[in-house]
Amino acid sequence: MSVLIKNGTIVTADSEFTGDIYVEGESIKAIGEELEMQADEVVDATGKYILPGGVDQHVHFSFTYKGSKVRGFETSNAAAVGGTTTLIEFVNQVQGKGLVESIDDYRKTDADGIAMVDYAFHSVMTDPRPEVIEEIPKLADAGYPTMKLFMAYKGMFFHADDDAILNALYKGKEAGITVMVHAENAEMIDVLSKKLIAEGKTAPYYHAVSRPPVVEAEATRRAIYLAELAEAPLYVVHVSAIEAIEEIKQAFGRGQAVYGETCSHYLVLDREDLAKPGFEGAKYVCSPALRTKEHRDALWQAVDRKWINAISSDHCGFDYENQKHMGAGPGKSFADIPNGAPSLQNRLNILWTYGVCEGRISRSRLVDLFATMPAKINGLEKKGQIEIGYDADLVIFNPNYEGIISVANNLEGVDYCPFEGFAQKGRPETVFLRGSKIVDNGKYVGTKGQGRFIPGKPYGYVYGG
Ligand code: URP
Ligand code: ZN
Ligand code: ZN
Repeated sequence: MSVLIKNGTIVTADSEFTGDIYVEGESIKAIGEELEMQADEVVDATGKYILPGGVDQHVHFSFTYKGSKVRGFETSNAAAVGGTTTLIEFVNQVQGKGLVESIDDYRKTDADGIAMVDYAFHSVMTDPRPEVIEEIPKLADAGYPTMKLFMAYKGMFFHADDDAILNALYKGKEAGITVMVHAENAEMIDVLSKKLIAEGKTAPYYHAVSRPPVVEAEATRRAIYLAELAEAPLYVVHVSAIEAIEEIKQAFGRGQAVYGETCSHYLVLDREDLAKPGFEGAKYVCSPALRTKEHRDALWQAVDRKWINAISSDHCGFDYENQKHMGAGPGKSFADIPNGAPSLQNRLNILWTYGVCEGRISRSRLVDLFATMPAKINGLEKKGQIEIGYDADLVIFNPNYEGIISVANNLEGVDYCPFEGFAQKGRPETVFLRGSKIVDNGKYVGTKGQGRFIPGKPYGYVYGG
C-alpha cells in the first residue's frame, strides 16, 4: 500500500514548508515538492497542516485507586481521533512479581491484540526489595527503558520512599533507565488532608487545599537532590506549579540532566473548577491539583521556552457517576475520590486552540512538545518526526474546523469530559498509523489490535541522543 499526500504544510519541530509526502508500506519514503510517484491513494492536503502523529508519554489504562480501575486500551481509538498514534502506559509492578514480568503479563492480556494505536510502557516500581532493584537494568533489554516512582501517595502500595528512588537512580544509571517521579510530598499531603477532614472540609475543592504548590516544589527539589547524589538524569512528570518549574530550570542551569513535562489540563483548567456546584468538582480531582492563572501563564511560558519539554495527557478514565462518587456521602471525603481525569482525545485540540491560536506557542513548538520530544525522551527511534525512514504516523490537520469539545463526541468511554463546552479550532481530519488510515474525516476507521508494541531504547534524549 502506498499513499501520496500532496500540497500540505508540513510542520516539524524546526520548520514548516509546503510539500508532498510519499509513504510506502509503513514508513515515509520521500518528502519534497511536487513528488511524482504513483501511489495507491493520493490525498490532497491543500490548506491543511501535516503533523507527525502524537506521542503521549503519560497515560493510565491500568491505574487503580482504592480498588477502582480506569478504562483500558479498548478505548485507545480516542487517542487516534485526537491525532495521537503512540501511547506510553505506566504499569505498576504487581506485588510478588518482577518488573519485567509485570509489564509482560499486562501487555499480553490488556494491550496486545486490543490497542488501536502503537504503544510502549514505563515500569512503576512498587516493591523495592533488593532483588527488584537488581532487576532494574533488565528493563532496558525488554524495551521498557523508563521507570516511574510515585512520591505522593502515602499508605498506598505504589508509594515510593526516598531510598527506593535513590536506589532506582543508581541502578537505573547502569543500563540507561530514565527515572521519572510524580513529585509531591506525601507527608505534607497526609497531614493537611487529615486536618481538613477533621475540620469537616471534605468537599472536592479541599483536594487542592490539601496539596498546595509547596508540596510539589519540595518533592521536586528533593528528587533533584537525589538525582544529583546519584549523578543520574531525572524526569519530573506532570509539572503544574511555578515553584516546580523553577526547581527544574535551576537544576538544568547548574548542568544537571533534569527535565519535565506538563499536561493539557494544567494549561487550561483552574483550581476553581474543583468548587463547581454539588459534587461536580470531583471531575477535576487530579494530582498535582489544578492551579490558578498565574501558574498556567508560567506553564505556557515554560513550554514555549523549552524549560518543560513535553505535554502529555495523564489520561485517567474514571467515570464521574460510579467512580468519582467514591468520595461522596457520609464518612467520605476528597481523599476517597479517584485521582485523575480523562484527556486522551483532546491533547492536540487543546494545544492548538489555546496554544497556537492564542499565540502562546508556534506550530513547530507544538509538534516538538506533542510528538518529537516525547518520542526522543522515551527512545522511540522511528516515532514523532516527519523524516525519511520514520514510521508514517501522520496527521492531516484542518485548521478551519470549528466545534465545541463535548463528551457527546468522545471515544474515551468515560461519562464526562473535563473540557466540556470548550471551543475547539481545527481538528485532526485524517490520521495514518504506520501508513494505514485509522481516522477519516474525523472518524475512527481503524481496527482493534492494529497497534503494535514499540520497544524503547535506553536513555532516549537525556544524553543528547
Ligand atoms: O491524578 C492523577 N494524576 N492520576 C493518575 C495517577 C498519577 O498520579 O499520575
Ligand atoms: Zn502522577
Ligand atoms: Zn499520571
